Amino acid sequence: MKVPEGAKQTKYKTTFVCVKNGVEKEFDENNYPYNDTTWVFKDSRQEILEQGYEPPIHDFSITDGETGEDLTQQILDKKGYTFLLVAPYLETADDSNFDEINHIYEYAKANGYAFYGLTASTEKGIGHWRDITGAEYPFYITDGITLKTVIRSSPGLVLLYQGTIINKWSQNDLPTAGRLNAPLSLIQEGHEPENHTWMKIVLIIICYILPLILLIITDRIWAWTQWVKKREEWVKQKEQSNRLYQLIKRKRQMRKKIVAGNWKMNETLQEGIALAKEINESLKAEKPNCDVVICTPFIHLASVAGVLDSGIVGLGAENCADKEKGAYTGEVSAAMVKSTGAQYVILGHSERRQYYGETAEILKEKVKLALANGLKVIFCCGETLEEREAEKQNEVVKAELDGSVFNLTAEEWKSIILAYEPIWAIGTGKTATSDQAQEMLAYIRSIVAEKYGKEVAEETSILYGGSCKASNAPELFSKPDIDGGLIGGASLKAADFKGIIDAWKK
Ligand code: 13P
Repeated sequence: MKVPEGAKQTKYKTTFVCVKNGVEKEFDENNYPYNDTTWVFKDSRQEILEQGYEPPIHDFSITDGETGEDLTQQILDKKGYTFLLVAPYLETADDSNFDEINHIYEYAKANGYAFYGLTASTEKGIGHWRDITGAEYPFYITDGITLKTVIRSSPGLVLLYQGTIINKWSQNDLPTAGRLNAPLSLIQEGHEPENHTWMKIVLIIICYILPLILLIITDRIWAWTQWVKKREEWVKQKEQSNRLYQLIKRKRQMRKKIVAGNWKMNETLQEGIALAKEINESLKAEKPNCDVVICTPFIHLASVAGVLDSGIVGLGAENCADKEKGAYTGEVSAAMVKSTGAQYVILGHSERRQYYGETAEILKEKVKLALANGLKVIFCCGETLEEREAEKQNEVVKAELDGSVFNLTAEEWKSIILAYEPIWAIGTGKTATSDQAQEMLAYIRSIVAEKYGKEVAEETSILYGGSCKASNAPELFSKPDIDGGLIGGASLKAADFKGIIDAWKK
């Protein structure tokens, strides 16, 4: 019993009642007739001589009787199994089963299990027990009442596993040799000792594997949500680009496809009228799949207008003055052009820029007057060979448009048709490849989009000009940004011109 420092230990007096020849007699620990077997033990009583420290019932303590050392924790902390033989009063203990007890002790020893006797008896009582049983196991002291509560009514054997009672037997029902040979049967159901291997496995699972699995699951869920998000974005983008593609396709189908002839300074009046008639007749016979325009010298305009079916072939001039009217000898104003019945005028042709010094400023004036007079403008742009070789084609074309037409309002822009004519391809027989032409026209459309918006750009007709003939027209016109051609040499023969027009049917 662990007595707090300064507290007195409770002192007991134990009285043993024995019977001999029907006569009862009381003995105490000092005069108990250990060696006189004629006295038969009947009962024991314990009375408190001096009240001292009373340990609470859970304050179970085991003390070494000789040294007074408290061994409780040491025994409870013991690893593995520990047998405790509980015999409160060895003076009166039943020695009929000491063989069984010795057998269990041998079994414990052989298996490396601890085995201790716990008693409330004095050294004398312990000595008596050793004498009659030959016990070799150590006896430690524990309070008698506490011991009784350990085993309840009758003393016996307790089996501990690492400080926890996992089974107990009364004196009359000690485990037999057979049960001892199957040690697991010693363990009361529901009191299995903890299996450390399993506990370690469970601990590893709880501490490492489970968090890892959770982490992996979380990571996978996160990755999946990201994938779903990305896919949704991708689907959205795809839908958007599909919509845009459809829109562009629709716009392309909607925007005017045009084949325009530029006669330049060719054909007498009579020849011109005949050519115009021939073109008109062939297109009347076989409706074109595009708008057709012929642009003639000024002097042809009025006469050609008379032979053309305006619903089939449009008419345009090749130039107009940069002045409204007045003393400008040799010039022809936009109003005069319009008055012939013409609906179009070509402006900014490279030959006019090159040979007649038409600057961006002059062209800006011409465009303004042409539009003011209700003419549609076929505005030309394009780079020289040197400029292309220096890779300045984009820069040159942009400057030409910037200088003469990008000042127009969106409303005015509706009357503009652009024609990209690389100077190095005009009348040289050296056509730009369809890819080169497409690349430039796509660029021109992109700068129109920057200026007037995508929608307007998609509605703007942009033509290619420069050695365009019936043989290369289908390939050129198959490109998404090429909306037709401005034709020089090949527009002077009705059949050649028709061949180009027919490229839109392929
Ligand atoms: P060619 O078709 O003769 O090359 O001329 C193109 C042109 O300048 C059209 O305006």
